[in-house]
Amino acid sequence: MTDNSVLIRLQNIHRTYKVGSDTVHALRGIHLQVRQNEYVAIMGHSGSGKSTLMNVIGCLDRADQGTYEIRGIKTTVMSGAALARIRNEQIGFVFQSYELLPRLNALKNVELPLIYSNVGFLTRRKLAREALERVGLAARMHHRPNQLSGGEKQRVAVARALVAKPSILLADEPTGNLDTQTSAGIMDLFEKLYEQGQTIILVTHEADIACHARRIVRMQDGQILSDVPARQDPAWALIHGPSAEAKETGV
Ligand SMILES: Nc1ncnc2c1ncn2[C@@H]1O[C@H](COP(=O)(O)OP(=O)(O)O)[C@@H](O)[C@H]1O
Ligand SMILES: [Mg+2]
Repeated sequence: MTDNSVLIRLQNIHRTYKVGSDTVHALRGIHLQVRQNEYVAIMGHSGSGKSTLMNVIGCLDRADQGTYEIRGIKTTVMSGAALARIRNEQIGFVFQSYELLPRLNALKNVELPLIYSNVGFLTRRKLAREALERVGLAARMHHRPNQLSGGEKQRVAVARALVAKPSILLADEPTGNLDTQTSAGIMDLFEKLYEQGQTIILVTHEADIACHARRIVRMQDGQILSDVPARQDPAWALIHGPSAEAKETGV
């Protein structure tokens, strides 16, 4: 029987990079399943394979072994064009460095994914405005990236990620370039999106950021080390104190 709430399923995913005569085994047999409206944080040291995994999940890259399904559709056997279509329809990406086009204002940056999927001008404008309103940036629509603060730039990037109403929001170290207070604002925004039903997968190496998620997956050397509800991960005790879980659940 198929379970319709399963959004993505990775089975035995491997990814190796060849650099000269060296081979880097970045992912070594990843098994992961994420359901609709989950909020997952992926943690791990630098080099543990987090970004490689996000790129595979986001269909920016392919595994060289294993199977990856989105909503039951096998991506591993798809052509490049079909994979690009899945990516446009299903995935919204947010990066640490925002990746906005400097010459375009916020509105046009947010419209870009819709241009790639051939949405007409008026609909594009309307959806881009709505996405900017959702992230609280309606007043900055006509500003170019260099006229925005770091937090505002990341909000534009979140609006761009959401504009095509993707199944999954993928964020790779979204607060990595932001100060603590601005990071908190972005995490509040993610919480709101999650409450509205958005599935979120977030990469971070910071415990306080990870604790916003409901589930924490830890990676090490290209493998999953642990995968537990956030309250059972050591990050939770670190941020909320050792007895926080007991107190909150009344145990
Ligand atoms: N494009 C690439 N070419 C070669 N090696 C890479 C490439 N991208 C990542 N790697 C290597 O793969 C491993 C995992 O990298 P990455 O997924 O970026 O880790 P993380 O995001 O956890 O820091 C590292 O050893 C890294 O050096
Ligand atoms: Mg990374």
